[in-house]
Amino acid sequence: MTTSTGPDLVRFCLVGGGRAGRVHAATLTRHLSGAAITAVVDADEGVRQAAEADFAPGHGYATIADALEDGGFDAVVITTPTFTHAELAVQAAKGGKHVFLEKPMALSLAECDAIIAACEEAGVRLQIGFMRRFDPEFRAAFERIEGGEIGQPMVVKSLTHGPGLPPPWARDLAKSNGMLAEVNSHDLDCVRWLMGSDPIRVMSETANFKGKARGVDDPDFYDTVLTQLRFDNGGLGSVSGICPCDYGYDARVEIVGEKGIMQIGDMRGQAIVACTDRDGGLRTPIYRTWPQRFAWGYIEEMRHFVDCIREGRDPEPSGADGRWAVALVLAGRRSIAEDRSVTIAEVM
Ligand SMILES: NC(=O)c1ccc[n+]([C@@H]2O[C@H](COP(=O)([O-])OP(=O)(O)OC[C@H]3O[C@@H](n4cnc5c(N)ncnc54)[C@H](O)[C@@H]3O)[C@@H](O)[C@H]2O)c1
Repeated sequence: MTTSTGPDLVRFCLVGGGRAGRVHAATLTRHLSGAAITAVVDADEGVRQAAEADFAPGHGYATIADALEDGGFDAVVITTPTFTHAELAVQAAKGGKHVFLEKPMALSLAECDAIIAACEEAGVRLQIGFMRRFDPEFRAAFERIEGGEIGQPMVVKSLTHGPGLPPPWARDLAKSNGMLAEVNSHDLDCVRWLMGSDPIRVMSETANFKGKARGVDDPDFYDTVLTQLRFDNGGLGSVSGICPCDYGYDARVEIVGEKGIMQIGDMRGQAIVACTDRDGGLRTPIYRTWPQRFAWGYIEEMRHFVDCIREGRDPEPSGADGRWAVALVLAGRRSIAEDRSVTIAEVM
């Protein structure tokens, strides 16, 4: 039996009403009975007005400071660009609010440490938005690997290919740490989680096939990245990122263990196969977007956060997990810049 120590209804302030913010807002308003959005913050007036009208009429704010001054919420969901995460999360924690923080946790390990310290000092919960850990397939695979079904994992291979060009801030290394952070943070968290071991060395290489044709002339821009990892337990890993890949949204993992192999995910978005002409062959729909592929993951991660607040438990993925993913991104970024493999000890 679980004991409820927190509020019956967890009231949220949505900080950032853009793409990810709207996914979480839909979860909190439509899918979870123990949660509600009672305030929204966005620096952009148009986005703020639209989010306020949809989710918290009469409670829209231009800054988190203004929202904190008015109060009326127990927790924040921070879905703003990465370079704003640390400041906003620390402000929310100091204001006594529980913090759900989107990945990547922050730009640097010092920022991660500041967020973790602020939450600990304020006694508020902190969860990082790695929703793949709550996807039914990823979760089942994790539990079956832990149960020994494929034996000790030896190699884990994870890919994320997204259809669209990332927004400008996510292409700016100074504001985002690049695609490795923006897209592959999920893979970097998952390979560590599924391998059950911390990486010790990273080698990343990039390529740029599509930037020029799409008008991106930033010399740091890459649309393709491959990362190779070695784990503390001797295992090996690889992570592939492609954005834009054009063909749809694709997130799959393969884990080879001493006794067998496990594959997570499928390109097919629906169990429909059609054939309309014999030369065209069989056709089946692919996942088009990340909200579609991980619909359940987004709901379940938020349910976990709300349950942890109500029951006084520490959520996972924790600040330490978020910090690990940032460390791997920083090692990969240095590997790209210096064209060599980089040990985690060099960035930790
Ligand atoms: N978990 C996932 O699958 C997933 C998917 C997409 C994005 N994300 C993450 O969510 C975050 C936001 O990404 P997005 O694609 O939604 O971005 P976005 O650009 O669509 O939205 C960000 C919003 O934040 C607002 N904003 C910026 N600075 C602000 C500030 N200081 N205070 C208040 N509002 C501010 C902007 O005006 C904008 O409306 C990023 O960390 C990204 O990595 C996660």
